[in-house]
Amino acid sequence: MERLVIRGGRPLEGSTRIHGAKNAALPILAAVTMADGETVIRDVPNLDDIRVMLDILRSIGARVYYADRVVTVDPTGICTTDVPEHLMRMMRSSVFLMGPLLARFGNVRVSKPGGCSIGTRPIDFHVKGLARLGADIIDRHGYIECLATRLQGTTIFLDFPSVGATENLMMAASLAQGETIIGNAAREPEIKDLALFLQKMGAHIEGAGEDTIIIHGVERLHGCEFRVSPDRVVTGTMMIAGAITKGHIELENARSSDLAAVIMKLREAGVHVTTGNDIIEVKQTGTLQAVDRIQTAPYPGFPTDLQAPFMSLLTLAKGTSIISETIFEDRFQHVSELQRMGAAIKVDLRTAFIKGVRELSGAAVEATDLRAGAALVLAGLGAQGTTIVDRVYHIDRGYESLETQLHDLGANIMRLRDQPHADIAVAEV
Ligand code: UD1
Repeated sequence: MERLVIRGGRPLEGSTRIHGAKNAALPILAAVTMADGETVIRDVPNLDDIRVMLDILRSIGARVYYADRVVTVDPTGICTTDVPEHLMRMMRSSVFLMGPLLARFGNVRVSKPGGCSIGTRPIDFHVKGLARLGADIIDRHGYIECLATRLQGTTIFLDFPSVGATENLMMAASLAQGETIIGNAAREPEIKDLALFLQKMGAHIEGAGEDTIIIHGVERLHGCEFRVSPDRVVTGTMMIAGAITKGHIELENARSSDLAAVIMKLREAGVHVTTGNDIIEVKQTGTLQAVDRIQTAPYPGFPTDLQAPFMSLLTLAKGTSIISETIFEDRFQHVSELQRMGAAIKVDLRTAFIKGVRELSGAAVEATDLRAGAALVLAGLGAQGTTIVDRVYHIDRGYESLETQLHDLGANIMRLRDQPHADIAVAEV
C-alpha cells in the first residue's frame, strides 16, 4: 500500500514542465491500430492507464516500444480483435479500441466496462454510433461484439457531446466508406489532438473542435510521427497548487487557451495568472476570495476533471462559493475527506456550498478516484500539519510522479510504501 505524506504550508516556487495529455494519448494509442505501418508518438506520459493501453496493444499482437515518453507501435502483427477481459476491466478507456479495430479489421469483441466510482458511465452512445455506421452489434454475456465488412458513412447526432463517443466514432469513420457527419460533437482540445493525429495518418477530417465534425472516409491510413499536446488537467492542478500554497510558479509547455474557464475563476478568486507562449505564471499573495457559482460543463465550460481540485482551493477562500457538478452523478466523494481536514462544505444533490475556513488541518484521508486524489494532495499542501493520502494508485493513473513534480517546486511531500500511519506522524519528511 503506497501513500503520500505531505507537510503543508510551504509556498511553491520555481518552474516545472507539463507532460503530454493522458486523455489525448489514450485514443491516439487506440488509433495506431488502424495504420498500415509504424507510428511514433512523443510526450506520452508514463502513467498506469497508458501502460495498460500498451499492454492491450501487445496482447493483440502489435509490437510496442516505450522509453523516455516515446511510444513506437508497429500494428502489422495484430492477430486478434478480441480485447482481453482482465485488461479491459483495468481501464475504461479500452473502449477506444472498438471503433479503430472494427473499422480496420471488420470485427471487435470487448467486455462491457462497468460503472466507476464517479458515476455509471455507460457506453451506449459509442455503440449506437457504431451501429449507425453499419455495424452489427451483439451484446450478450457481458461482451459486446461488433461486425461489419466495411463501415458506411452516415449522420450521427449525439444525445450529449460525449468526449469518448466523439473520439471513437471519429476514428471509426476515418476508414468508413463515404462521408460521416457527427453532430453535437464534443469540442474538447483532446478531440482536436486526435483529429490532427488522424490527419497525419491520412484521414480527412473537418470541424474538430466545433460541434459538427465531418469525416471523409479513406481506404487506408499510414503510420506517422506525432507529439501529444500538454495535459490541461495537470496544468490546472499545478496552477491550483501554486495558488493554494501562496506560491509563485511558472508552468512550461502549458496552454492557457485550453483553460480559459479555469483561469477566469482563479483570477476571480484573487490569484494572479499571467499567460504567455506555452507558459503560465501563477502568483498568490493576498487572501483568496470566494467565487460565483462554478458549474461543470462540456468544453469550453469548466472541466469536471478540475472540479475537485478547485474545491480544495475554495475551502480556504473568504466567503461562500458554490460548485455544481453536471457531468457525472457521483463526483463529490472528496467532500467527506476535505471535511476531515476541517473544510466547511455542505452538499445538496449535485451542488456543493463551500464556506471558506481560515485554515485546513492535516489528516489521514483516502483518494477515492483520480481527481479526488489530486484534490486531497492540494488540500494537504495548503493545510497546517501532516496529511496522509492513501490509495495513491488512483492518482498515478493521471499524474506522472506528482510528488516529484511538487517536491521539485519546494513542497514537503514524499511517497511511503507499507508504512503504518502511526510511524508516519513522526517520520522526517
Ligand atoms: C472523458 C475524459 C474524462 C472526463 C470526461 C468529461 C478521457 C479518457 N476521459 O471521459 O477525464 O471527465 O471526458 O469531460 O478522455 N455518457 C453516456 N453514454 C455514453 C458516453 C457517455 O451516457 O455512451 C455520459 C457519461 O456517463 C457522462 C457524460 O456522458 O455522464 C460525459 O461522458 P464523456 O464525455 O463520454 O466522458 P468520457 O469520454 O468517459
